[in-house]
Amino acid sequence: MRQIAEEVEPSVEFWADRHERYGPDVPTDSHALNLNAQTPDRPSIHRGDQIGSVSPLPIQSPFNIPARYSCTFHIVFLTIPHSFPDHSPHVSSTRSFMKAAFLTTQGPPEVIQYGDVPDPQVGEDQVLIRTHAMSVNPIDTYVRSGVIAAELPTPYFPGCDAAGIVEAVGSSVKRFQVGERVWTTNQGLVGRQGTFAEKIAVDEKWVFGLPDSVSFEDAAACALVGITAHLGLFREAQLQPGESILVIGGSGGVGSMVVQMAAATGARVIATAGSDEKAEKVRAFGAEEVILYKSQSIAEQVRQFSERGVNVVWETRREPDFATAVEVMAERGRMVLMAGRDAQPPFPVGPFYVKECSLHGFVMFKATPFEMRSAADELSRMMASGKVKANIGASFPLSEAAQAHTLQESATLDQSDRLCGKIIVTSNPSS
Ligand SMILES: NC(=O)c1ccc[n+]([C@@H]2O[C@H](COP(=O)([O-])OP(=O)(O)OC[C@H]3O[C@@H](n4cnc5c(N)ncnc54)[C@H](OP(=O)(O)O)[C@@H]3O)[C@@H](O)[C@H]2O)c1
Repeated sequence: MRQIAEEVEPSVEFWADRHERYGPDVPTDSHALNLNAQTPDRPSIHRGDQIGSVSPLPIQSPFNIPARYSCTFHIVFLTIPHSFPDHSPHVSSTRSFMKAAFLTTQGPPEVIQYGDVPDPQVGEDQVLIRTHAMSVNPIDTYVRSGVIAAELPTPYFPGCDAAGIVEAVGSSVKRFQVGERVWTTNQGLVGRQGTFAEKIAVDEKWVFGLPDSVSFEDAAACALVGITAHLGLFREAQLQPGESILVIGGSGGVGSMVVQMAAATGARVIATAGSDEKAEKVRAFGAEEVILYKSQSIAEQVRQFSERGVNVVWETRREPDFATAVEVMAERGRMVLMAGRDAQPPFPVGPFYVKECSLHGFVMFKATPFEMRSAADELSRMMASGKVKANIGASFPLSEAAQAHTLQESATLDQSDRLCGKIIVTSNPSS
């Protein structure tokens, strides 16, 4: 691949001849990819791939750049092999376009645009998924806003989760075939492209089979939060049947998964909720007792629930309360921590170690592909058997991804009462 940057005048159709401008070393079968225009008020307008098959150039600028700005076009030449093997139907030299929610700069929800972007190319280890449902997670809003420093592809599609149908597979893909129902998670993070698009190319290792009885919406809603719950409960806390667990945030995306999986394991569950209505939901998910944390003391309610304390405390708040957690834990209690990147609360060292308790902090996206797949396959079985149900609180079409982010942010950062559960984003409604 070769990159060439060139200054051009504004509002001028950009014509180039590769042999005159760049010399004969640009192969005749090159394609021009990734045309970016940068202007002072829109630092990174990206119009994506394949300006056209360039044999021979010229390339015509598809931009309408205001005359007062100077701009820079960056052209990337990608050498395409002369012929594709017949058994590679997933590789196409003529590209078409799809709808996506995308951003080219980090910022508030309004930076999310909706429009046409080139279809993704599927790599040899990748599965091309035609998406039907995605979900919003709090981490999507941190990445979008820039709170989490991240190198993002341009354009960047937000979103970690998706469910849909396999449209194509790379030549090395073994586990999936065209037409299969699948779901995925762990996308949009650590340099990977996200899921808020009509088609996504995902490494096979992050793709999992979706049972026929589970809807795309339910799978997307359970994906990242279900994996998180599974890793925390079984890899970290090693919850056993007959043990007890306190889930702080039982009505939320993660908490509702933790409540259901713990109950399905045969543990006794006590969980918090912010209103009577949310408490009803949490009971339906399998909690034996629900603490209305806005009017009741968590420590007092746990004492009534279990005299010796609970074996596991799962904390989902961004400001963990160690004093209460250590107070309510039984001897050898385990506390799961997975939220509150900037939190530095006081910690009751003495009571903690004398009780022989342990802390288990983790982030789901650092799980190995093997750990992730084991948890995902188990989650698929739990969804299919009805042991785990999706907790969907709101739904938006892909074109309203920015509004979906605004709602998630109001719930996560402002703790508004407008949301109970996951936000679903839908695409490809007619297929
Ligand atoms: N480490 C990881 O791998 C990982 C994975 C997923 C998520 N997370 C993080 O975990 C956190 C929760 O994620 P989520 O998707 O579950 O968010 P969510 O769906 O917005 O749920 C937040 C929950 O917190 C509860 N809550 C808020 N303030 C509370 C308070 N003062 N006392 C008790 N409960 C309170 C809410 O209860 P009510 O609505 O009932 O008031 C709600 O149940 C986020 O910070 C997220 O970034 C981390």
